[in-house]
Amino acid sequence: MAQADIGLIGLAVMGQNLVLNMADHGFSVAVYNRSRDKTDEFLAGEAANKSIIATYSLEELVNSLQTPRKVMLMVKAGEVVDAFIEQLVPLLSPGDIIIDGGNSLYTDSTRRTAELKEKGLLFIGTGVSGGEEGARHGPSIMPGGNPEAWHAVKPIFQSIAAKAGNDPCCDWVGDAGAGHYVKMVHNGIEYGDMQLISEAYQLMREGLGLSADECHAVFAEWNKGVLDSYLIEITADILTFKDEDGEPLIDKILDAAGQKGTGKWTGISSLEMGIPLTLITESVYARCLSALKDERIAAAKIYPHKPNTMTANKAVMLQAIHDALYASKIISYTQGYMLMREAAKNFGWQLNFGGIALMWRGGCIIRSTFLGEIKRAFDEQPGLLNLLQDSFFEHAIKQAEANWRKALIFAIEQGIPTPALSSALAFFDGYRCANGSANMLQAQRDYFGAHTYERIDAPRGHRFHTDWIQSGGNVSSTSYEV
Ligand code: 6PG
Repeated sequence: MAQADIGLIGLAVMGQNLVLNMADHGFSVAVYNRSRDKTDEFLAGEAANKSIIATYSLEELVNSLQTPRKVMLMVKAGEVVDAFIEQLVPLLSPGDIIIDGGNSLYTDSTRRTAELKEKGLLFIGTGVSGGEEGARHGPSIMPGGNPEAWHAVKPIFQSIAAKAGNDPCCDWVGDAGAGHYVKMVHNGIEYGDMQLISEAYQLMREGLGLSADECHAVFAEWNKGVLDSYLIEITADILTFKDEDGEPLIDKILDAAGQKGTGKWTGISSLEMGIPLTLITESVYARCLSALKDERIAAAKIYPHKPNTMTANKAVMLQAIHDALYASKIISYTQGYMLMREAAKNFGWQLNFGGIALMWRGGCIIRSTFLGEIKRAFDEQPGLLNLLQDSFFEHAIKQAEANWRKALIFAIEQGIPTPALSSALAFFDGYRCANGSANMLQAQRDYFGAHTYERIDAPRGHRFHTDWIQSGGNVSSTSYEV
């Protein structure tokens, strides 16, 4: 009997929690999992006595849904998504909707939207953030794809999403792969935030000699101010957690980071778009470097860490590290928004930048009070070109600047790696520099390759070539930009 509001395929942790969340909000959900046991276990356990219907084949799942049918995939990104879509297509009717809620590559979502449209089916590729807890009690949801599908899915998604005040942390992002693109940038920013916090932690621990408990107290305090965020909160929690022997568990965890690829995709996209997303990309590289554990151990023997030469007043330096973290976070979000702006231009998406900040304001891993300021900035100036042009962020950066430099001088003196904090300052110094060093680059390019240059005393676009060694001809190479 066709009775369920939505069907969900894939009962791993995110899938199960989303189903429970939907059921709690009054929606009936038909579920299907490749292994039957998981479905039975779920129905006998947490799903018992809720409006959740077990199905044991895709036919049964599809037949249990009200039209237009909505089938949500919560399966591994990549080929598995395509395999399920292939099996679902013959079972569905025109106007039915397939939703992919995994961390899929946005180009796959763009392709799937077009392929399914040709078959008369509607596709939504949506980012879902917040982990297990978010999925159960209110995730941030970032849907994109075929806009004709949105009105049918909107009541379900906006009910189960986290709320920022009364606003749901879910709204239509844009056509085709826009939802997954924005989720990808979210994850890139997540990488950046995590790396910044980790660098601040190492400065405290190694540079200032603070214990894990002392670091906990600092992060707990920071979580009451401008840095108030989920990631600072869990960092404070992690630092108090003791292993079975009573020692901080953090000290027993191997310093080799994993990654599933969304940060890397963000970096790749930034290179493709020509946007200097330096902080996030450095954060990806920091994970890559961390993973070279054995090589690092060998290198540490060749280049032992020299004793500290700089003594610091702890309170003063903690404030400097705080300010460096805050300023760098502003830079990271600035770069993330620069990338989304360029992507919107390239792909013809109408991205609502304030709306994206609102979607990230609650439920997701990067949720923070800070995002409220980004929302405000775009509400006040919808055409805002760059966050650094907003007066709140201008003031914040100016206030933090001296301490930002102080913290980095300390890090360099101590030999403590700070790729994200440092790249943020390098970007800032480059961005606010009216006259940089690229005149030298252009001269070099013209010298060895006749690549031509523009002059400060001629209109933009007029290209010049000089015969630097008075032996070449006047022929310049073709000029093109990537
Ligand atoms: C979220 C997270 C989630 C996941 C990342 C982890 O928004 O809920 O971003 O998607 O935690 O994929 O990515 P890494 O394994 O690459 O750190």
